[in-house]
Amino acid sequence: MYSEKVLDHFMNPRNVGEIENADGVAQVGNPKCGDIMKVYLKIENGIIVDAKFKTFGCGAAVATSSMATEMVKGKTIEEALQITNKAVAEALDGLPANKLHCSVLAEEAIKAAIEDYLSKQKSKNTN
Ligand code: FES
Ligand code: FES
Repeated sequence: MYSEKVLDHFMNPRNVGEIENADGVAQVGNPKCGDIMKVYLKIENGIIVDAKFKTFGCGAAVATSSMATEMVKGKTIEEALQITNKAVAEALDGLPANKLHCSVLAEEAIKAAIEDYLSKQKSKNTN
């Protein structure tokens, strides 16, 4: 029922951990299941140079976080904001329908971490 890519990213998740002094950090929860994901981004000149995550959640949440953090690295924040949970699921060769909601966690966590970064930039500029 899971693709080989999902199993690979679940067994060997990329980018697990924390970034010290991250430029953007966010934690989101999935209201459907109570699972939690925290994302850390390092951003330089508008480009995401590093991304790490911690997930307290199911295998599909771990696999989508792993893939999503891989996908945003090297992208501009504008490009990263375009990445949908569907794109992440497709990059994993699909998820079972009842596990699609798990991929929303990764998309939301990345968007929220970018927003955290942008709001910090704003407050820097107004000081
Ligand atoms: Fe059981 Fe996410 S609700 S693993
Ligand atoms: Fe909760 Fe997958 S079951 S994120």
